[in-house]
Parts: sequence; C-alpha cells; structure tokens
Amino acid sequence: MIQGKWFPQGADLSDPISVRRDVFSRGRDALDDGAQNVVVYLDGVPAAAGRLWWEDGAFRLGDIGVSAPFRGRLLGDLVLRLLLFKAQEHFAREVRLRAPFGTEGFFARLGLREVSRGESETEMMIPGEEIDLDTCRACGKKDCPKRRD
Ligand SMILES: CC(C)(COP(=O)(O)OP(=O)(O)OC[C@H]1O[C@@H](n2cnc3c(N)ncnc32)[C@H](O)[C@@H]1OP(=O)(O)O)[C@@H](O)C(=O)NCCC(=O)NCCS
Repeated sequence: MIQGKWFPQGADLSDPISVRRDVFSRGRDALDDGAQNVVVYLDGVPAAAGRLWWEDGAFRLGDIGVSAPFRGRLLGDLVLRLLLFKAQEHFAREVRLRAPFGTEGFFARLGLREVSRGESETEMMIPGEEIDLDTCRACGKKDCPKRRD
C-alpha cells in the first residue's frame, strides 16, 4: 500500500530524515525549522521524501529523493505532485527548485522550466497558475484506457 504523510514545522522528522540520509547523505538542517516535509511510504516503509519552504518571495521544493530500491515506481512523481499540490493550496505565485543535472526531465514533466544553470544544478520554476496536476491533460497517449476526455 502507498501512503503519503505530511510533517509540519515542529513535527518529529525521523522518517523524512531517514530518506534524506539514505538518498543525499544529509540530515536535519536549519531549513527544516520552516519547511513542510512529506514522506511516501510503501507498505509502511519510508521510501521517498521531499520538502517545501518559503524563500525570497517564492515557494521552494527540495531534497526530493527516492531510496534506491524503490525508484522507477512513480513514488518520486507522487512526492513531486504532493509538494506542488501543497504549494497550490498556499496560492503560490511561483514554485522554484534546483534540479541536479540529469534530473531536469523529471521536473519538466510537470511543467517546471529551466531558468538558469549553475555548476551542478539547474534552477527551474513554474508560475503557480500553471501548475496542472491532471496527468491526462499533459499526456500525449491517445489510446490510454485511463484517459477521461
Ligand atoms: C529523480 C528521482 C526523485 C525520480 O524518482 P523515481 O521514483 O525513480 O521516478 P518515477 O518512477 O516517479 O518517475 C516518473 C517519471 O519520471 C521519469 N524520470 C525519472 N527520473 C528521471 C530523470 N532523472 N530524468 C528524466 N525523467 C526521469 C520516469 O521515466 C517516469 O516517466 P514515465 O512516467 O513517462 O515513465 C529519483 O531518481 C531520485 O531520488 N534520484 C536521486 C535524488 C535526486 O537527484 N533528486 C532530484 C532533486 S533534489
């Protein structure tokens, strides 16, 4: 069973941090004091996580990671959607993130676009009004049985 859980500021962050340590080899930091973390569990195991915070007039997403054994099962996609949905709930004017080189395509699928390139990361953003979590609308498959239009 797949479950998503939010961890507001002040919550016990053991599960989000366990995924972060596993994927990024980093633990809790000062950003967590003002961030909302989310974890996706697969059969009760923390498998994927990410966080959302407010910085310099925009919502930022970061530390979106899936533990290696669980990759390729759309759990990363679910974390990204949960974070974008939360930003929408907060009426975000824009959402930004720094995508490590090679991951831009993962974020572009949900409409994030390149703003600038650093040494190892690409700054990406999407205006709040362009966030569209309707998978069918963005998908090019014509004969998909799940299509609703
Ligand atoms: C990037 C990452 C989060 C993707 O998670 P995942 O669960 O393996 O990916 P999903 O199964 O949800 O993939 C969803 C879609 O994105 C695509 N995708 C996955 N990784 C991709 C990448 N690096 N580039 C382009 N597309 C990618 C998949 O092919 C899939 O497409 P499809 O639905 O058309 O088949 C995961 O590989 C990861 O944790 N990487 C290390 C940490 C990292 O670099 N995080 C990124 C930003 S902080």
